[in-house]
Amino acid sequence: MTNTAILASGRGSNFMNIHQQIKSGKLNAAISCLITDNPMAGALKYAQENDIPTYIVRPNTFGSPRKFGEALLHILEENQVEWIILAGYLKKIPENLTAKYSNRIVNIHPALLPAFGGKGMYGRHVHQAVLNSGAQVSGVTVHLVNNDYDRGPVVMQQAVDISECHSAEAIAEKVLEIEHRIYSKALQRLLDRKFEIKNNRVIFL
Ligand code: GRF
Repeated sequence: MTNTAILASGRGSNFMNIHQQIKSGKLNAAISCLITDNPMAGALKYAQENDIPTYIVRPNTFGSPRKFGEALLHILEENQVEWIILAGYLKKIPENLTAKYSNRIVNIHPALLPAFGGKGMYGRHVHQAVLNSGAQVSGVTVHLVNNDYDRGPVVMQQAVDISECHSAEAIAEKVLEIEHRIYSKALQRLLDRKFEIKNNRVIFL
């Protein structure tokens, strides 16, 4: 069984969903710890209530991204973490972490990348930008994490019709439903199967 760590900054619905999938035997993995930068995160509360070890690590209390990365690496090593799952984690992943966990960090983005991604494109900002663009379709992207925001190899995508959505909130709701449907599926594939990366795409062998 693969040992994972969840990194989350907010509400934590993707984290909760992954945890439930594991508990019901649909996802063959273990969550060894939850790391957050936000002491008020719903994800933190959920982890505490479910006896998952938690760590609050605040990047701005370290002198540099490298030192922040070292602190994270220490926790990950201590917990024998093989894969890192980002679930609404809002901080930039330091380069010493992407180097050590190359192609073993996964993220979910609430739009069809490479559109509506990049720095500042998170949460409501994404859905508002989609609405403003006039797009009739949005979706979800699961991707591996490298040093470029939202540019890592794509693992899985699913589109959703948003032609009936007239607010960012309405789009968010539709997209979140898809997120919960595909994140654990994508994770299971990554953990179970060998893959290669071609043209910035994860190809399962
Ligand atoms: C999700 O929309 C996810 O795609 C994005 O951040 C949001 C986190 O939501 N990366 P939650 O905290 O998992 O509920």
